[in-house]
Amino acid sequence: MGDPSRHSETTIKENPNGSFVWKPQLTAGCLFSGMGGFASGLLQAGFSIRWASDSDTYACTAFRHRFPDIPLVEKDVRELSVKKEGLSAVQILAAGFPCQSFSQAGSRGGFEDPRGALFFEIPRLIEEFKPADRPALVILENVPNLLYGADGVWFDQVRRALRQAGYWFREQSCWTVNVKDTTDLPQDRERLFMVAASRTFFTHNPFSPPSIAGNGSGTVLRPLDTLVDRTKQGAEDGYLSPGNRYYKMIDKAMASGESDANIYQLRRSYVREKKKGLCPTLTANMGIGGHNVPFVRDRWGIRRLSVDEVARFQGFDAGAELFPSIPLPEQYRLLGNAVCVHLARIIGRACAEILNRGHQ
Ligand SMILES: C[S@@+](CC[C@H](N)C(=O)[O-])C[C@H]1O[C@@H](n2cnc3c(N)ncnc32)[C@H](O)[C@@H]1O
Repeated sequence: MGDPSRHSETTIKENPNGSFVWKPQLTAGCLFSGMGGFASGLLQAGFSIRWASDSDTYACTAFRHRFPDIPLVEKDVRELSVKKEGLSAVQILAAGFPCQSFSQAGSRGGFEDPRGALFFEIPRLIEEFKPADRPALVILENVPNLLYGADGVWFDQVRRALRQAGYWFREQSCWTVNVKDTTDLPQDRERLFMVAASRTFFTHNPFSPPSIAGNGSGTVLRPLDTLVDRTKQGAEDGYLSPGNRYYKMIDKAMASGESDANIYQLRRSYVREKKKGLCPTLTANMGIGGHNVPFVRDRWGIRRLSVDEVARFQGFDAGAELFPSIPLPEQYRLLGNAVCVHLARIIGRACAEILNRGHQ
């Protein structure tokens, strides 16, 4: 059995009492890195991110802006090569691969859809590493429908591909989780995390879904208005003019709804009130056109959630400057696509614990 801490780097950590100890620095790589939800969470869990990759120009621009020191390969994953790009061995590979073809609301084309087929690039790249250099753990993120959709055929394909690449993987290694039930962020966002463990380093898959209690994120939901700022007037272009047809639809829904302090989401042809102080699932298309856009009322009118507010619901530090100058719809798209930082941190900590335990 190998040593899963083999690709860690040693750094000095200060103890609370002022003494110093050598502590291994855990390492991770991120495929489909987007603007870096996984990267943020894994950094917070103590990992050093050795490299990341994505093909989208705006995602890469945002990632570089946020993490100027992390080597980023801007390339289609299908053209990525471990050797050519010089990707170093890491203990964890995190990959939140495209979910449109598995989502209930999407095409449901599964792996027949070219976006779904990108999943197979993950085992392909893993197998490019020498067996002893392959990541000890692989964390995948997608929509829960991947587990059950197509009568389980999609999940079978994932299981088979990961097993063929030399990993322990089964349904019990998956974690279906909702942001609102697991963190203090009041967003109703259900996701699926899947963790595969290398046969080179482990005798079984040691991952089990993290317990909610004591995950360090807190489980008492933050009140909406600690994330939505109604004390200041928002950007002018965020408000709907009272003559706008969407304004009329939302105004009507608010008048008959439970409370106009709630968030209202514009669906294709109707408005849905999100009750109980929750934010609906934030999606990539919320920044374009009239679909899935979350709206609130404040003293100045009806406006969509600002980029900063959306960032807070996804666990990003909206105080820090998240984006360089990229178009606003792209900022919303990147945020809707991102892995919630708090969930990435929780799963990162669970994996760090496994790696720190060593041989299994
Ligand atoms: C769900 S998002 C990933 C979110 C990200 N994992 C995070 O941590 O926040 C999926 C990402 O896959 C990227 N992507 C889509 N097609 C790709 C391709 N052919 N090659 C590389 N990346 C691609 C998109 O640009 C997008 O950033």
